Amino acid sequence: MDHFQLRNGELYAEDVPMARIAEQYGTPVYIYSRATLERHARVFREALQPLGKIHLAFAVKSNPNLAVLRVMQREGFGADVVSGGELARAMAAGMPAEDIVFSGVGKTAREMMQGLDAGIGQFNIESEEEGVELARIADAAGRTAHCALRVNPDIDAGTHEKISTGKSDNKFGVPIDQAVAMYMRLAELPGLDMRGFAVHIGSQLSDLKPLELAFEKVGAIVSQVRSHGGTVTHVDLGGGLGVPYKAGEKLPSPADYGHMVARVTKGWDVTLMFEPGRVIAGNAGVLLTEVIRVKRNSNRTPFVVVDAAMNDLARPALYGAWHDFDAVKPTGEKMTANIVGPICETGDTFAMERNIDALEAGDLAVFRTAGAYGATMASSYNSRGFVAEVMVDGDKVASVADRILPEDIYAAERVPEWLD
Ligand code: LLP
Repeated sequence: MDHFQLRNGELYAEDVPMARIAEQYGTPVYIYSRATLERHARVFREALQPLGKIHLAFAVKSNPNLAVLRVMQREGFGADVVSGGELARAMAAGMPAEDIVFSGVGKTAREMMQGLDAGIGQFNIESEEEGVELARIADAAGRTAHCALRVNPDIDAGTHEKISTGKSDNKFGVPIDQAVAMYMRLAELPGLDMRGFAVHIGSQLSDLKPLELAFEKVGAIVSQVRSHGGTVTHVDLGGGLGVPYKAGEKLPSPADYGHMVARVTKGWDVTLMFEPGRVIAGNAGVLLTEVIRVKRNSNRTPFVVVDAAMNDLARPALYGAWHDFDAVKPTGEKMTANIVGPICETGDTFAMERNIDALEAGDLAVFRTAGAYGATMASSYNSRGFVAEVMVDGDKVASVADRILPEDIYAAERVPEWLD
């Protein structure tokens, strides 16, 4: 359920006509709905609340906009971060440091220190080498790093290969058959407080079975650590729950997920941690765009050329991802078209041979389900600048990220004097 619906024949974002947003802020522009974000946060929480001790950390990578993070903070979510930049953002948005979890295979010494200085709640360690380094840095600084060891359960998540993370040939986590011995070794190091395990096998999962298998494997190593006299108080089950990208598509709901987690983790006696991103933000955002022109080559499918491009929304070009595309003022007429952006490569294609609302130059349309992994993956390729972002709240609308113009970007560039 989202708050981007037709009213009297035109698309609204909550109570604001999208046409008004285009007029005020220009296009392309991402629009986020506060009510939708809050609804998704609450549905997710309600699905997991019966599990008892839980910790919810919004995956900042899915949508790091400060206003979005603030909504999540107000909903009682902490943050899952994967870089010093995301850590700084989460703190800037008011997330308490103890609610922040730091994941990622490549934390630098500097980022480790940044996390320790901030006093974050947990580091998810992805290798023994990383654990040893973190121990040394924490010990030297007279601090303790609270840690979970991320395991790689060697499970195929059944999603796109570029967003799978739980197969043994993926770079993430430590092999699960070595995890217990490694955990016990790391627990001996000064500076580290090993408190549990973490697992995350991939994103946009449409089937709960691989998650269930992964969680069962984690349950087994929790018991093994305890039987070796070790302590486990936290297990981080990651994110990964998929969302519908096509109208009418059915995916497991947060409630289905909650029931599965309850069944598998029964008796674990730990604080269960979650890192949802897409399931919260995905359908809480759209990318509003204007048709520049419709290019008709005789006997060929027409190209609808929009002013958004692969630099603004990279998912179709990167993963062949589908985003529903709807006219802001549909006439009821339909057409079959290829939807493309203005960037000079063929990869700048949003859809081929798609049956869409009939559109002409100057019409507005939206790419749906663009609230997660949308603006955050934008680039300035073709010197197009960075796309603007707004948030609506009932009948209010506010800019939450200015459009960054090409001239702002090249202002940071220099021509050395020896080229004069
Ligand atoms: N936790 C960890 C350790 C992760 O690596 C991720 C996502 C998440 C949580 C959040 O996963 P979610 O609940 O959003 O599925 N750019 C890709 C998605 C990359 C996901 C990376 N990791 C896309 O546009 O589909």
